[in-house]
Amino acid sequence: MNEGGSRIRRRVAVRKRNRPSLESIFASPTAADLQPGDEEDDEEEMMAGSRRKKTAEVQPVENNDSEEDMFGDYDSFAENSFLAHVDDLEQYMQLPEHRKHASDLATDDLCSESDKHNKLSVTTIDNFTELKMDEHTTNESRQEDVCIEPEPDLLYDIPSSQVLYFENLHNSSNDLGDQSTKERDCNSSSHKTVNEELPQNSIEQHQQTDDSSSKVRTSSEENRRKSLKEHLKSAMTGNAKAQTPIFSKTKQLKETLLSEEINVAKKTIESSSDDLGPFYSLPSKVRDLYVQFKGIGKLYEWQHTCLTLNSVQERKNLIYSLPTSGGKTLVAEILMLQELLCRRRDVLMILPYVAIVQEKISGLSSFGIELGFFVEEYAGSKGKFPPIKRREKKSLYIATIEKGHSLVNSLIETGRIGSLGLVVVDELHMIGEGSRGAILEMTLAKVLYTSKTTQIIGMSATLNNVEDLQEFLQAEYYTSQFRPVELKEYLKINDAIYEVDSKAENGMTFSRLLNYKYSDTLKKMDPDHLVALVTEVIPSYSCLVFCPTKKNCENVAEMICKFLSKEYLKHREEEKHEVIKNLKNVSSGNLCPVLKRTIPFGVAYHHSGLTSDERKLLEEAYSTGVLCLFTCTSTLAAGVNLPARRVILRAPYVAKEFLKRNQYKQMIGRAGRAGIDSFGESILILQEKDKQQVLELISRPLENCYSHLVQEFTKGIQTLFLSLIGLKIATNLDDIYHFMNGTFFGVQQKILLKEKSLWEITVESLRYLTEKGLLQKDTTDKSEEEFQHSFHITKLGRASFKGTIDLAYCDVLYRDLKKGLEGLVLESLLHLIYLTTPYDMASQCDPDWMIYFRQFSQLSPAEQNVAALLGVSENFIGKKASGQAIKKKVDKDTVNRLYLSFVLYALLKETNIWSVSEKFNMPRGYIQSLLTGAATFSSCVLHFCEELEEFWVYKALLVELTKKLTYCVKAELIPLMEVTGVLEGRAKQLYNAGYKSLTHLANANPEVLIRTIDHLSRRQAKQIVSSAKMLLHEKAEALQEEVEELLRLPSDFPGIASSTEKA
Ligand SMILES: Nc1ncnc2c1ncn2[C@@H]1O[C@H](COP(=O)(O)OP(=O)(O)OP(=O)(O)O)[C@@H](O)[C@H]1O
Ligand SMILES: [Mg+2]
Repeated sequence: MNEGGSRIRRRVAVRKRNRPSLESIFASPTAADLQPGDEEDDEEEMMAGSRRKKTAEVQPVENNDSEEDMFGDYDSFAENSFLAHVDDLEQYMQLPEHRKHASDLATDDLCSESDKHNKLSVTTIDNFTELKMDEHTTNESRQEDVCIEPEPDLLYDIPSSQVLYFENLHNSSNDLGDQSTKERDCNSSSHKTVNEELPQNSIEQHQQTDDSSSKVRTSSEENRRKSLKEHLKSAMTGNAKAQTPIFSKTKQLKETLLSEEINVAKKTIESSSDDLGPFYSLPSKVRDLYVQFKGIGKLYEWQHTCLTLNSVQERKNLIYSLPTSGGKTLVAEILMLQELLCRRRDVLMILPYVAIVQEKISGLSSFGIELGFFVEEYAGSKGKFPPIKRREKKSLYIATIEKGHSLVNSLIETGRIGSLGLVVVDELHMIGEGSRGAILEMTLAKVLYTSKTTQIIGMSATLNNVEDLQEFLQAEYYTSQFRPVELKEYLKINDAIYEVDSKAENGMTFSRLLNYKYSDTLKKMDPDHLVALVTEVIPSYSCLVFCPTKKNCENVAEMICKFLSKEYLKHREEEKHEVIKNLKNVSSGNLCPVLKRTIPFGVAYHHSGLTSDERKLLEEAYSTGVLCLFTCTSTLAAGVNLPARRVILRAPYVAKEFLKRNQYKQMIGRAGRAGIDSFGESILILQEKDKQQVLELISRPLENCYSHLVQEFTKGIQTLFLSLIGLKIATNLDDIYHFMNGTFFGVQQKILLKEKSLWEITVESLRYLTEKGLLQKDTTDKSEEEFQHSFHITKLGRASFKGTIDLAYCDVLYRDLKKGLEGLVLESLLHLIYLTTPYDMASQCDPDWMIYFRQFSQLSPAEQNVAALLGVSENFIGKKASGQAIKKKVDKDTVNRLYLSFVLYALLKETNIWSVSEKFNMPRGYIQSLLTGAATFSSCVLHFCEELEEFWVYKALLVELTKKLTYCVKAELIPLMEVTGVLEGRAKQLYNAGYKSLTHLANANPEVLIRTIDHLSRRQAKQIVSSAKMLLHEKAEALQEEVEELLRLPSDFPGIASSTEKA
């Protein structure tokens, strides 16, 4: 980092010579040139490779992470199988052999260690596989018993591949059993459960802890404090402990052992010796947890190499890049655990979407409980700023890009950035994507600039111009082409299939002709031979069909089902009925008619029009093999871990745009499931006309990524400058310019800047912010050289920066709130909701005027008064509805925003997405995105108001509104839904079964949950209980800290200093 600093300085010295004077630039405004680049207006879908979500209806909400909330609150349990083995771990740890083994710090040969474990532990990897196979084979045999031969007339209309499948099914039942066993990630497990306990040890640890600061206290004071503390603790944890069975000595022993190992590991790390201790400097328990929870017994060779790189040992910044499914996460996780457990510092992990954050929280909570660290969620409207300062345990913050930025800001502001030992960025290539890329860039640049001791690690599967990123992050680079499952890439033109072959002259070699028998009707309906292609793999194997648009997904799913043999209905029939029942359960009895027709065949569509509850259920069914085919948009390639044996790309397009290399790579990367498939295959269907372009696509290198910091004007450079000055990271022109030179943009300035210099852009942006009233020039240093101009942030600037409001909207937000003060209608929530309806979503909305009018007419007079105050009259809406011309000018943005407020208002009243979706004729997925966007924006507005005295009255109102919007359910379900992974449907079930609070959930026995809650898998049950335990623990700890703070004698207490001095 020092090197980086000098690099910056050098560049500055060169720049300074040429720059024009500040005043001259101020005098000639050219800010218009800096307006954001072309607003990409791709319809329909998020661009997969770019991992940026865009839809016609669902537009990204600015300055919050609702953009990621296309997946809403959903979470997928697909990746994390490890919780299925939580209990086995407990059994395992109780084995005397293991205790002996775990303390054997001398051994660092992972492979041989793992072997030993396999012999000792209750569930070795092999045994586990066998166990699953046995069970599953039994299931499959049951299925086979009911298989019948297809009717002869049916055979005519189905491809030969289908006929083949059913022939095989009939003739060789054992084959299918075996095959399926290998192919399915069977969710069921017959592991026994032992007692569920609260993480007591940590509580006990605290009882023994500290108080070292208060030397001057008398012993009676200490006793009083102690008893108070203990009283409070026991009260707080009383309920939690109530159900806990006899306190386990083994567990106590286990903890002692763990802390011993951590101490040894800490010393190892501090002495930076080559001896890495039991498991990459970590306690051997970590290795055991990976075996038990994730079934990972041995690291891939590259993972080992990467973890033992000198640069990694020296804690240099690192970028590493491997193909999809290469196992990148594990390396990052081990490094994070080293930081948390051995170096005892906090860690921030930045992930691209809310959904993925939640998946990670569910997955890592059990590690946190076992190893003694906190896992904290920073996504949507969740997350505390600044984060709670923990005394003992360290925190792993798992955050979206936006929340990660706010977190870093708050740590800088409170002088705590040094406590952040490591920042891990997954999907680092996102730095080159729109406003989110700009935010990621700012975050990393700020960490680099303000903390010399924070290590940064970035990973990605699709990086090309790594050198630029390396220069920006001052990082080492590691790469490998490793992929655990071979990926065979094919192209389909007419009925011929070609294998992609870089050695062949035109990049492909003929592979085979498609074997199918099509009727005329089928030919007409399915000219691309999708039915033939999918039936070669389903239902034994899973298949994904990527389609260009959402509508297309639904059509393709229906078309395929139309031509599938009825035999498919019998494959896991009961479980599919369960899925349908579940879908109805989470949707207040509603069911999408398309899904109703396709699910019985094991087929479903998957896109952002689904609600998060639906999506979660479908994903679970897919990953357990109940559903075997998803027709999906590119959103599915964007980080959701749902691999398939075969991936089919219906066309080389995403919406109307031709595929990018990165997108293509992401989509085909879903083919092949590590540890399950021996290979995966992708087939891109193309027409002759696209052949040339496709051949280019498969052969060219990945696209470069470029900084968007300046292109994203209000959300990029301006936001950055405001926060640099607000946080006092850099307050004068010169320092700000230095900072800019150290950004990714600074690295790429030669490529990106054509007409203006970085100096000019810096000066212009500062001028713009000053003109907008967000910054003020300091008048005190007038005498200094012009380039020493320093700035301070105005109140409005601070509010905008604290609320992470897009600067394009900060003045209109201020005006709206100010106007609200003059006559806020509090008779209902409508007016408040209006104030927290995201501006950017409103500007994209296109109201249905008839519906608008109908809804307006149904409002109470007080509610109609809200519209009147905003300048929207019934007359205007009525005229619009009847298609009449309107002379009077009405602000379109206000009208649209009010319309969306109606939607949100209806939603809060009815808490039923389906009925609101019907009422407003909007897709249910969109309504949910709107809700998530409003919840996030509401918390932004709250932070905005907190900084401006005149808006004090909004504070209390917005706290409640944010909560309402965040959960949008009956109040009693809110505590349950705070637990990551518990959505509304599940919360209702749990509540009805008597689990009414967080404490209930934290104490629940997963086995009992499975028995009492319909359609809850063991894995889900364990994840819910683990997450609840983690959350309860966090809350209890926070309260304890508060108590201690309250009881602590202030350091400036009169007399203390003198008595200490005397002592
Ligand atoms: N050493 C290992 N042995 C067995 N399985 C492993 C190992 N390392 C990782 N895996 C498994 O491989 C799968 C893919 O790993 P991971 O999600 O880390 O891939 P990735 O490189 O991040 O891919 P992507 O670019 O698609 O995100 C996961 O299910 C993970 O549990
Ligand atoms: Mg990954």
